Amino acid sequence: MVNKINIVAIVGAGTMGQQIIERTAMSGYSVRVYDTVRDFLEKYVRRMNRKKKMKGISGEVTLHNTLGEAVKDADLIIEAVPEKLELKKEIFSQIDKAAPSHAILATNSSSFPVSRIEDAVDRKEKVLNIHFYNIYALPMADIMKGTETSDDTFEKGVHFVQSIDITPIILKKESFGFVFNRMWRAVKKDCLKMWAEGVADIKTIDKAWKIFTHMGIGPFEIMDNVGLDITYDVEMSYYKESGDPRDKPPQALKDMVDREDLGRKTGKGFYKYYNN
Ligand SMILES: NC(=O)c1ccc[n+]([C@@H]2O[C@H](COP(=O)([O-])OP(=O)(O)OC[C@H]3O[C@@H](n4cnc5c(N)ncnc54)[C@H](O)[C@@H]3O)[C@@H](O)[C@H]2O)c1
Repeated sequence: MVNKINIVAIVGAGTMGQQIIERTAMSGYSVRVYDTVRDFLEKYVRRMNRKKKMKGISGEVTLHNTLGEAVKDADLIIEAVPEKLELKKEIFSQIDKAAPSHAILATNSSSFPVSRIEDAVDRKEKVLNIHFYNIYALPMADIMKGTETSDDTFEKGVHFVQSIDITPIILKKESFGFVFNRMWRAVKKDCLKMWAEGVADIKTIDKAWKIFTHMGIGPFEIMDNVGLDITYDVEMSYYKESGDPRDKPPQALKDMVDREDLGRKTGKGFYKYYNN
C-alpha cells in the first residue's frame, strides 16, 4: 500500500503545469515545482503562496533548482514537459532515480500511453497516465494504466484527481489518445485538412462548429489555446503511431510552428491576441 499523498511535484510548469500547480496547491497539497526556465516562475510561486495564505490553505509551493531536489520527498510526481517521447522518457528516468521508492509517477501527455514511457523506470507498477484538460474550463482527467500499473497506484491516482475536484475519466484498457482526445482528434484532423486544402477559412469552420454544438469556442480557437507546437506534436504522434499518410498534419501547420506563431501564448496563431 502506497503512503497517503501529501506532497506533489510538478515537472514542467508551462501552460498545463501551472494549472495543475494552482489547483493542487489550492486543494491543500504542498507542491514542489521544477522547470528548466524559472525566471517568471518565481513571481508566480510567490503569488500562489500569498493566495494560499489569504485563504488559510495549508501547504506551500516551492520552486527548485534541480529536478532531484523537487522530487526527493514527493508522494506523487506529475510530468508536464513538452510532448516529445524521448524527453518524457529521460525525465521519467531521472525522476525514478531521485524520488522516494513509494512515489507514483504520472504523465500529463496528451497522446502517449504511459506504456511507451515505462521502460525508462524500474517502478513500472507505480506509473500511470493522468491526462488533464484545461483545468478550469474542462475539469476532467483521463486516468489510464501502463502494462504493470498496480490497482493501488491506479486507485491513488483516481483519489488524487477527485481530491482536487476534477472528474476522473477511467479507461478500462489502453487507448492512444485516451477517451476525449480521441473524439477531439477526429474533429481536429479534418478541420486542419479543410483549412490546408482551402475548403473553408478558419472563421467559417469555427462558426459552423459553434452553431452546431452551441459551444462558444471553435476548433481553431481551441488549438490556439492549447498551443500550436503542442497541437503539431500531438498530431505527429498519431501519425507516427498509424503510419497512415492521411494522418500527417498539414505542412502549413508546421510552417506556423517554425515561425513561432504558437497561438495565444505567443500572441499569434490562427487568430491574433492582444493583452496576453
Ligand atoms: N496545452 C494543453 O492544452 C495541454 C492539455 C493537456 C495535456 N497537455 C500535455 O501537457 C504537456 C505539457 O504541455 P504544455 O502545453 O504545458 O507545454 P508548454 O510548452 O506550455 O510547457 C512545457 C514546460 O516544460 C518545460 N520544460 C521543457 N523541458 C524541460 C525539462 N527537461 N525539465 C523540466 N521542464 C522542462 C518548459 O520550460 C515549459 O515551461 C504535454 O505533454 C502536452 O501534450 C497539454
